[in-house]
Amino acid sequence: MDLLQTDIAEIVETLGPLAEEFAGKRILIAGGRGFLGRYFSEVFLALNEKLDEPCEVVVLDNFITAGATGSAVPKRRHFAFVNHDITKPFYPERPVHFIIQAAGIASPYYYRKYPLETLEVATVGLKNTLEIAKTHKARLIFFSSSEIYGDPDPRHVPTKESYRGHVGCLGPRACYDESKRLGETLVQIYHQQMGVQSCIIRPFNVYGPGMQQTDYRVLPNFAARYVSGETLQVYGTGKQTRTYCYVVDAIRGFLQVLVNGTPGEPYNIGNPKPELSVLELVQTIERVVGKDLPKIVTEHPDSYPADEPNRRCPDITKAHAHVNYQPKITLDEGLKRFFTWAKEAYKEDPASA
Ligand SMILES: NC(=O)c1ccc[n+]([C@@H]2O[C@H](COP(=O)([O-])OP(=O)(O)OC[C@H]3O[C@@H](n4cnc5c(N)ncnc54)[C@H](O)[C@@H]3O)[C@@H](O)[C@H]2O)c1
Repeated sequence: MDLLQTDIAEIVETLGPLAEEFAGKRILIAGGRGFLGRYFSEVFLALNEKLDEPCEVVVLDNFITAGATGSAVPKRRHFAFVNHDITKPFYPERPVHFIIQAAGIASPYYYRKYPLETLEVATVGLKNTLEIAKTHKARLIFFSSSEIYGDPDPRHVPTKESYRGHVGCLGPRACYDESKRLGETLVQIYHQQMGVQSCIIRPFNVYGPGMQQTDYRVLPNFAARYVSGETLQVYGTGKQTRTYCYVVDAIRGFLQVLVNGTPGEPYNIGNPKPELSVLELVQTIERVVGKDLPKIVTEHPDSYPADEPNRRCPDITKAHAHVNYQPKITLDEGLKRFFTWAKEAYKEDPASA
């Protein structure tokens, strides 16, 4: 079992007039076999049931972190897959109207393992997609990250897009944070110098069904341990705070920015409520699954980059004002859907990696 079809249907039903923007269009998704990429593909293919003229989805991925689920590419109508490393140029044979640059090494575990690949995909890889956008006059969104804010000054939490960040260029997270920052600069240059219609997305901890069991980001990590009955490991002090955005809300926001975002601009996409510590997240999970779970607070393992930000919470005023973005799914509801899904999916495919 991969994604929740009820979630896909919910996105499609609530897109409203935005859906028509994709009729008859070709959409290129770099990193399209990852968590967010597979969601986008399913939404576009489900939209085709409603659209008079279908849209076409072209997915590129080199499978570096796509795992077993991502690497098993289905054959679908209006869907093409190309096994391609986006750090090498790509020349689409047919016109492209929208580009979603979601290729990246997203999990701290993997960017510690693949620091150079992490840096190159967010810079060289992005530049290659910006070149396609320039040639095809396509609209593009670049998946940057809330990590570009680093460890924000508490006076700037919730964090607005105008905050410049507090980031180190030499720490264990630098390959990710700094390459995403340079990527944002590239988006601005292509917009200002060449008129490319591109926007920057800064997602704040998006989660949901479809995340791999071995993703190692906090929620799939906890869900995998919950399913296997293992102890939940809270790294650091457990007092660091985060916010969590359910994928249905996030995908709606991403699509709104893709179509209506102001070119050259960054947008925070997340759910600012509630901002809670990792220990409070564990308590929320316990409430949602209806039982106490074994847990320990422990040091970061070597495989995980320390130097975690203390707080992270988005100010989403700009995304609301520009593209009417408003998350609707509460943390309890999102966790309920995710943990219910994980109970089946992670058990079914324990070796998924
Ligand atoms: N999900 C979140 O909460 C979140 C938060 C912040 C930023 N982001 C960013 O959004 C993007 C998508 O995130 P996700 O959660 O879907 O991650 P993911 O790891 O599930 O998917 C990323 C995909 O990109 C592919 N990829 C990596 N390098 C590539 C290359 N050189 N060429 C082609 N494909 C390549 C991987 O194989 C994988 O399938 C990433 O760039 C990530 O940094 C996501």
